[in-house]
Amino acid sequence: MDFDELQNTIRTIEAKVPGVLSDAGSIDALRSLESGILGKKGSLGSLIATIGRYPQDQRGKVGQAINAAKGRIKGLIEKRFKEFQAADAAEEVDAAAAFDPTLPGDPIPMGAVHPVTAVQWEVERIFERLGFTVEAGPAMETEYNNFDALNIPDTHPARDMQDTFWLTNGMVLRTHTSPVQHRSMLKFGAPLRVIAPGQCFRYETVDASHDTTFYQIEGLLIDRDISIPNLIAMAKLLLNEVMQREVKVRVRPGYFPFVEPGIEIDMNCEICDGVGCATCKQSGWVEVLPAGMVHPSVLKAGGIDTEQYTGFAFGLGLTRLAMMKYGIRDIRVLNTGDLRALVSPRRLGGVLLC
Ligand code: DAH
Repeated sequence: MDFDELQNTIRTIEAKVPGVLSDAGSIDALRSLESGILGKKGSLGSLIATIGRYPQDQRGKVGQAINAAKGRIKGLIEKRFKEFQAADAAEEVDAAAAFDPTLPGDPIPMGAVHPVTAVQWEVERIFERLGFTVEAGPAMETEYNNFDALNIPDTHPARDMQDTFWLTNGMVLRTHTSPVQHRSMLKFGAPLRVIAPGQCFRYETVDASHDTTFYQIEGLLIDRDISIPNLIAMAKLLLNEVMQREVKVRVRPGYFPFVEPGIEIDMNCEICDGVGCATCKQSGWVEVLPAGMVHPSVLKAGGIDTEQYTGFAFGLGLTRLAMMKYGIRDIRVLNTGDLRALVSPRRLGGVLLC
């Protein structure tokens, strides 16, 4: 190729440049165009290698012609490059302007505490204020702790009061939280103030107010000069605080082998407001707090000096209290894992089960 042809080639290459540059859609595309034109193997860049083929006296102007074109093309590429940079910066500014840091974030789906747990915590706080310690006992109990230590020997008909799940190892799934009374007496001695929330199990026919698994909170107070009025005062305070208002209660005699005398403290049924419904078996009352003065045999089994000390005990029906508090009509809902019961117990009681 002679010098004139070279100039033509250069012109042809340069003529195409503005078109391909404006077609380039990104900085990356621009960079690959640049190497396709100016690079060693590029349409213009590769011409440098041909300089040696020209006569000695022409090589200078050949080189100048190529380099001048190279400079012009580089200028155009740089200009386009700056356009891209400016557009990117504008986009960032737009994005920053569109982001409002004062808007609330996307809601994060969150779990909630089970209604029974919520009431348990509330009851624990109330008793802690009254100087009680919170204790726990095992769900799998010895026959002795569940029965014998509570004045229910093998031959006692009261064993039939509670339908028991017997385990093949001779132990039982505790039928009540009362065994923790015995454990606590041995652990702490007297005087003593303790509550023990926990899961209990009975081999029962399931209906609206009975399930095979339920929760109780055992309570035990041992001190000098303790009597039934102390127990009733405490029960009223507890129920009023949990329900956040004055709750109607009634006290009637009850029989439990581990207390003498034994009483039943019932509360007004909150589902029907005392009118009578399936949950309260049409009575208008719900048994939530069986209790009594601790039987001397139970105190003795726990190593307590019955000459000096008396005490009261109670077995709060935690599941029932949670049903009353949240208006849940059917105990079975609480063990089904229905998430609506966890998220909004009020709604569950009010809407789903009405
Ligand atoms: N353990 C009894 C039950 O589950 C309830 C109970 C009654 C507990 C009287 C007590 C009590 O501590 O004094 O049926």
